[in-house]
This record gives sequence, C-alpha cells and structure tokens, in this order.
Amino acid sequence: MKEIAPSILSADFCKLGEQIEILKNLGMEFVHIDVMDGHFVPNLTIGPLVCNSIKKHFPDLKLDVHLMIEHPMRYIDAFAESNPYIIYFHLEAEKHVDRLINYIKSKGIKAGISINPATPVSLLEHVLPILDSVLVMSVNPGFGGQRFIPYTLNKIKLLDNIRKAQGYNYFIAVDGGVNTENIKDISKNGCNLFVAGSSVFKGNIAENFNNLNKMIKG
Ligand code: DX5
Ligand code: ZN
Repeated sequence: MKEIAPSILSADFCKLGEQIEILKNLGMEFVHIDVMDGHFVPNLTIGPLVCNSIKKHFPDLKLDVHLMIEHPMRYIDAFAESNPYIIYFHLEAEKHVDRLINYIKSKGIKAGISINPATPVSLLEHVLPILDSVLVMSVNPGFGGQRFIPYTLNKIKLLDNIRKAQGYNYFIAVDGGVNTENIKDISKNGCNLFVAGSSVFKGNIAENFNNLNKMIKG
C-alpha cells in the first residue's frame, strides 16, 4: 500500500467539508486526524465530535486517528464511535501497551503505535507481531508545518527490514514535514502511509495532493 493521508490539522476549519470533498474526489482514501490534549503535546486540537461528523458526511473515508494525549485508554470508547480505520496512541503516553493494543482491536479497529523521533524502534520489539501499523513521527509532535528530521528515515528502513525478515504485517506510516522534496526518499525506505498536512492544505489543495500522490504511486 502507498497512500497519502492528508492531516486536517492544516485545513481551514470553516471549510473542512469542502476541502475533504475536493480530496475525496481526487481519490483520497485516508483522512488523518490529530488529537492533542495540551498535556502530552503543548497544543489543543480536535476530539471525537469532529471524527463523528466527518464519518457521518464521508462514510467511505478511512479515519486515521492519531492520539497525542495522556491516558489514551480513557478515550478509546469515545473515538470508537466514529468507527475509525485505525487508532494510534503514543508509546510514550501509555504504561500498559499490550492491554491498550488489545482493547482497540477488541472494538474491531486496527491498532497502531506512534513513536516520537527520539524513541527507538527496539522498544516495540515484542508488540510488532500484533500491531497493525507503526507511525514514525518525523517531527516532534504538537504542530504542523515543521521540518522533517532526517534520522527518522533510518527508523522507517529498520521497520521495513524487520517486517521483511520476520514476515510481519504492519504497515509503516510517517508523520511530519512530508513534502514533494522528500516523499520519494521516504517511500524508497519502505513507508506505506504518508501523513501530509501543510504540504497538502497550503496553496492549491488539488494540485498539492495530485503531485504528492503521483510521487508515491510512480
Ligand atoms: C504533528 C501532527 C501531524 C501534522 C503534520 O504533531 O501529528 O500530523 O499535522 O503536519 P505537517 O505535514 O505540516 O508537518
Ligand atoms: Zn499526526
């Protein structure tokens, strides 16, 4: 799989439906939703109500829910209402990682873990066989429009190598600073899902999405 997941963090919230519609008509399958609580990250964004509304108006889209919050377990039920395709929580935010993965899966939702740039892939060793996805943060989470941190490419490559060697099924996602300059390189290193906020929503949305999409589908 090679897909772009536009992050609505950079959308114009007064035109959210309109902007999603444009992207959907161009073949967008995934919508990335950044949930921030002002504790795990120093910013506040959107919650389950927005997910429910997007799902109601666009039932076929796959919601890619990225929880950047403390105590993620407390909010899984609320986010499950919109029947997301996947819920990611941060490894750094949860003590009972195995329990939370299984809880998300028990709701019929795919479970993913997100890791900050400085968090090593090796900490995921024992849960890689049961994960549906790993989301590699390529910026420090909290804000859109930051610069891609180059060493995170090695983490994507490492996850790809482990997947091949062990025959695991998780897909690899990247989040932060993805643009037309670096997306081909990220793709070559084994990434499957490319979260892109400002590089989709700043300027001409349709043109931006098409350009990025072409670069991963070759
Ligand atoms: C950052 C968020 C990202 C953000 C990406 O904490 O998780 O999803 O929206 O934005 P860009 O693509 O602008 O770096
Ligand atoms: Zn995100």
